[in-house]
Amino acid sequence: MDNKIIVTDSASGKSIELPIQHGTYGPAVFDISRIYQSLNYFTYDPGYQVTASCRSTITYIDGEKGELYYRGYPIEQLAEHSNFMEVAYLLMYGELPLTQQSADFTKIISRHSMFNEGLKRFYDGFYHDAHPMAIMIGVVGSLSAFYHDSTDIYNPQHREIAAHRLIAKMPTIAAGCYKHSIGEPFVYPDNSLSYTGNLLHMMFSMPTETYQVDPIAEQALDLIFILHADHEQNASTSTVRLAGSSQANPFACIASGIAALWGPAHGGANEAVLRMLNEIGQVEHIPKFISRAKDKNDPFRLMGFGHRVYKNYDPRARIVRDTCHEVLAKLGNSNDPLLKLAMALEEAALLDDYFIEHKLYPNVDFYSGLIYKALGIPENMFTVMFAVARTVGWVAQWMEMIAEPTRRIGRPRQLYVGPARRDYPKEAVRE
Ligand code: CMC
Repeated sequence: MDNKIIVTDSASGKSIELPIQHGTYGPAVFDISRIYQSLNYFTYDPGYQVTASCRSTITYIDGEKGELYYRGYPIEQLAEHSNFMEVAYLLMYGELPLTQQSADFTKIISRHSMFNEGLKRFYDGFYHDAHPMAIMIGVVGSLSAFYHDSTDIYNPQHREIAAHRLIAKMPTIAAGCYKHSIGEPFVYPDNSLSYTGNLLHMMFSMPTETYQVDPIAEQALDLIFILHADHEQNASTSTVRLAGSSQANPFACIASGIAALWGPAHGGANEAVLRMLNEIGQVEHIPKFISRAKDKNDPFRLMGFGHRVYKNYDPRARIVRDTCHEVLAKLGNSNDPLLKLAMALEEAALLDDYFIEHKLYPNVDFYSGLIYKALGIPENMFTVMFAVARTVGWVAQWMEMIAEPTRRIGRPRQLYVGPARRDYPKEAVRE
């Protein structure tokens, strides 16, 4: 027999039967949309801990088991067999590309890799020491001022071109953020290179010298990008969807996602991990920092640990940890003191009762920064790299939302706890 959710208000005696919807995996949901009409209540769930905000076919996380699937494919299999462009295609179109589709998609993306020359002048308005994420938010938002021919969200072709443009131009924009910060000239994309090879080329080559993309760096980045490509309804993706629900153009929506990603509780954690490791400094200091992380009167947290959904080892962290060891070994850095410190910190935290009880495990950001560092990417660019990869997920989720026939503007309610109605004080009235 199908179970039912019946909500009864004991004060009025009124009841409502809430329809249940089942997904492929995960807890079923009950639909609360009629609760207000029937019982005159809103629901309260700060931080959306148990609220499904949409139906989605893109990504699924099993937090208890520590599993992640894109369109049904386990992340480990995609990491082993695919490249980032194929994963981007999968997330956008729902299926892995056939050989020709993959070649065509890669070509389309590379054809859009340059941006309008006028956009370059935006960078000049930023101080040289501006955080690259601040620049990126501004520049991506300004794309809507340049590409009017792809901002009609009701036109599926416009949506697709905007998605292609966003994926294609993000590496160029990211490299521009870096070049601006170090005062070097911008380097144009080279469309004969791979997506990540091109990013490295635009970041590290100079017009005066020949630059050879290091295949170790290119592959490591490609893998990290696969792992970061999507993660269902996280804070930045939900921000993109919320902005998109107001029918804002896709460039503006992605800029809002980048802003949400920047925070250290989300994508900014990769930069925060490196800062934390540097602050800890040496293995002997680990117990002191673990104690601080457990102290409720101290705001310090172990960055790169914990996750809203994963109550088990983040599967991306496992892959990235192995890759970190491989990359550092290949680059001759296996004795990197920060890697040793990170491993000792992970081990200490995983053995600690507090971390065990709270089910706090390393997340993807714990080791990714160490790889970026080994590739010569500066700390303030870590979250920018994340944003480049996550753009694929954001556009896929945005496209899914816009195509939904029942789409409505996102508009949460609130529990108002401010002052009750009161009259403007007579003594404050100006004659
Ligand atoms: N160090 C110490 N204690 C922690 C940590 C941590 N990193 N994370 C959670 N806790 C404790 C927290 O104090 C709370 O304890 P109690 O129940 O005793 O009050 C409990 O665990 C639950 O924490 P929460 O903040 O209510 O959990 P949340 O689901 O709201 O937050 C999180 C998830 C990722 C924001 C949090 O774990 C955190 O701040 N982690 C550090 C930042 C980080 O690594 N973020 C990257 C996340 S993965 C990549 C991404 O999303 O982009």
